Amino acid sequence: MAKTTRDRLTYLRRRALARWLYRRPLSQLSPERLYLWSQALIETADVPGAVVEIGCASGGTSAHCDRLLRNIGVSKPYVAIDTFDGFVPEQFDHDAERGTPEAVRHGFAASSQILVRQILKQLGAPDVELVQADIVTMAPQSLPSPISAVLVDVDLSQPVYAALRKVWPLMAPGGMVLVDDCDLRTGFRARDGFQRFCAEFALAEDYTYGMGVLRREPAQTSTAHASA
Ligand SMILES: C[S@@+](CC[C@H](N)C(=O)[O-])C[C@H]1O[C@@H](n2cnc3c(N)ncnc32)[C@H](O)[C@@H]1O
Repeated sequence: MAKTTRDRLTYLRRRALARWLYRRPLSQLSPERLYLWSQALIETADVPGAVVEIGCASGGTSAHCDRLLRNIGVSKPYVAIDTFDGFVPEQFDHDAERGTPEAVRHGFAASSQILVRQILKQLGAPDVELVQADIVTMAPQSLPSPISAVLVDVDLSQPVYAALRKVWPLMAPGGMVLVDDCDLRTGFRARDGFQRFCAEFALAEDYTYGMGVLRREPAQTSTAHASA
């Protein structure tokens, strides 16, 4: 997304004031959804594999949840993927034609990987791995594997669908996927991408607090082991 003059000014202000603006993790998830994501991380604590957040914005949720993992003694890579440049224009156009308001087009454009790295450092989460990529064009081989838990938080239908296509084959048995903004309340069409993916893979659509939820079947325990 090409930054407008306004985006550039906002970005410069955020960089100059980052030390004061980001003294506490500012998650963009609503409280009940941050709770759900936190719960998913706790539930999958024993599932091997990286934790991945696709669409991390300023890193508020990443910092909060990286700390959660460390507090409960779980040592897993936390990988946060974002364009760090906001929405990809064609992906936004696609949803704008279906009702997503123009007013949110530049919502996340005033950012950069350098700024988010600085924010994560000052929030005490320097180990969060940042990857700058458009999830639609990102090579699946660049994703960690296996994955124990994924938060897909990219708002638009096409990147949601692409993210699910790419992460689902990499999920460890027992792993969980949450997709934000599946309630259509905000005007975002994340739900379209979630529905398309579920239909293609014959998966049941499950929603909690407006988030799409998918669970990878846990590994089969052998009869001998189960009856032992
Ligand atoms: C709602 S914000 C994420 C909020 C963050 N998860 C949190 O809880 O604080 C959506 C993010 O998705 C990113 N995004 C949108 N389209 C993307 C794409 N195709 N690939 C990667 N990131 C994308 C935007 O840059 C923005 O930072």
